[in-house]
Amino acid sequence: MSHSVLSHSVLSLRLLLFLHVLSRSRCAALQQWPVPYRRFDSRPDVDSYCEARYPFCPTGDRDGRIPYMRDSDVISVYRLQTPVWEFKYGDLLGKFHIMHDAVGFSSAETGTNYTMEWYELFQLGNCTFPHLRPEVAAPFWCNQGAACFFEGIDDEHWSQNGTLEKLGEITGNQFNDMAEWVQSDNETGIYYETWTVRSDPSPNTTVWFESYDCSQFVHRTYRKLSELGAKLSSRTQTNYTKIYLYSGEPTYLGNDSAIFGQPALKNLAMDIRKFYYTFRPHQSIVDFALSLLEAYTKVMLDKSFYLYYNFEYWFLPMKPPYVQITYEEVPLP
Ligand SMILES: *[C@@H]1O[C@H](CO)[C@@H](O)[C@H](O)[C@H]1NC(C)=O
Ligand SMILES: *[C@@H]1O[C@H](CO)[C@@H](O)[C@H](O)[C@H]1NC(C)=O
Ligand SMILES: *[C@@H]1O[C@H](CO)[C@@H](O)[C@H](O)[C@H]1NC(C)=O
Ligand SMILES: *[C@@H]1O[C@H](CO)[C@@H](O)[C@H](O)[C@H]1NC(C)=O
Ligand SMILES: *[C@@H]1O[C@H](CO)[C@@H](O)[C@H](O)[C@H]1NC(C)=O
Ligand SMILES: *[C@@H]1O[C@H](CO)[C@@H](O)[C@H](O)[C@H]1NC(C)=O
Ligand SMILES: *[C@@H]1O[C@H](CO)[C@@H](O)[C@H](O)[C@H]1NC(C)=O
Repeated sequence: MSHSVLSHSVLSLRLLLFLHVLSRSRCAALQQWPVPYRRFDSRPDVDSYCEARYPFCPTGDRDGRIPYMRDSDVISVYRLQTPVWEFKYGDLLGKFHIMHDAVGFSSAETGTNYTMEWYELFQLGNCTFPHLRPEVAAPFWCNQGAACFFEGIDDEHWSQNGTLEKLGEITGNQFNDMAEWVQSDNETGIYYETWTVRSDPSPNTTVWFESYDCSQFVHRTYRKLSELGAKLSSRTQTNYTKIYLYSGEPTYLGNDSAIFGQPALKNLAMDIRKFYYTFRPHQSIVDFALSLLEAYTKVMLDKSFYLYYNFEYWFLPMKPPYVQITYEEVPLP
């Protein structure tokens, strides 16, 4: 017992020294916060290890094509939001208020309407916690996310316990320009990021990393539409779910090959695997809740978190309140 405690603290000390050296060597390069989300030239194929429980975008066009609208058309724009799930789990995390967001469109000329959303290919749990595969050294992530555009708006699904609200109207040309932007955004922004990491809950504090999820896609779409000249407005507060981690200044660690391909970093590699070992396999949204709860307990005890962002690892020196789920206002542009 005392032996394992001792060896663990020796390991932690080595790790701290190592992190210190790493952070000093990165000082020369000016670090930009929040770390920019990495854009890719094109979307890579998905590894066959990743299995979708539900097919992605089953009723969308196979090639992601978006119908062309005549400029004379008037296209209504809708804000769509529905609870994924509300959950009361003791007093620890309180009530989760996890919402899914989308944008709706309807054409005055054809009467056809459409839903546009951005979500995980392999469900939320798989975008938040990796798989530890015995035959692969590095944790394995099934974390792609993508845009889905399909015909129809399921009014009941959105309005019954959520929101279905018309925000404004755009022309056919504005719609077509937006469609072109969606295609390129979808091709270059390929992975889902659950966490927003910041230094403190109070306003105007440093954000280290931004999430990249369904609501961020909706915000980008509204910004694009407003850039194209659209006027959007809502009669109610436009609130969105954010899942926060709170930490001091993060330290860059490296990518898979840097960490898991070098014998010199085997303690760090082991620590990262150990960190993610805590989190159960992700079969359901309830498992995801339990993993979030475990994450909370674990980071509270260890005050550390290994964040995977841009396919690279960062060390987060965690601090209170550690993990928080909020439902807060993000105004329309
Ligand atoms: C998460 O990924 C694993 C491995 O690909 C897969 O078996 C599982 O079905 C995924 N989870 C869900 C909920 O689809
Ligand atoms: C976005 O990319 C996914 C994955 O390749 C694809 O299935 C989907 O059709 C694309 N969506 C759009 C709107 O281009
Ligand atoms: C979308 O179209 C369907 C089918 O015509 C209709 O029932 C529904 O009310 C429409 N929803 C909106 C928001 O336009
Ligand atoms: C709305 O919430 C009620 C009660 O929680 C639930 O029974 C119902 O299925 C929900 N409706 C939709 C469309 O999700
Ligand atoms: C945060 O910053 C904005 C813009 O600089 C400012 O308007 C606002 O008053 C600040 N809020 C607080 C609480 O300091
Ligand atoms: C991983 O990082 C190293 C530098 O630390 C870089 O040379 C290599 O190209 C990176 N690999 C990938 C797949 O990005
Ligand atoms: C929406 O956000 C505002 C400010 O961020 C907050 O005061 C309000 O309570 C939120 N509304 C709900 C229903 O949570």
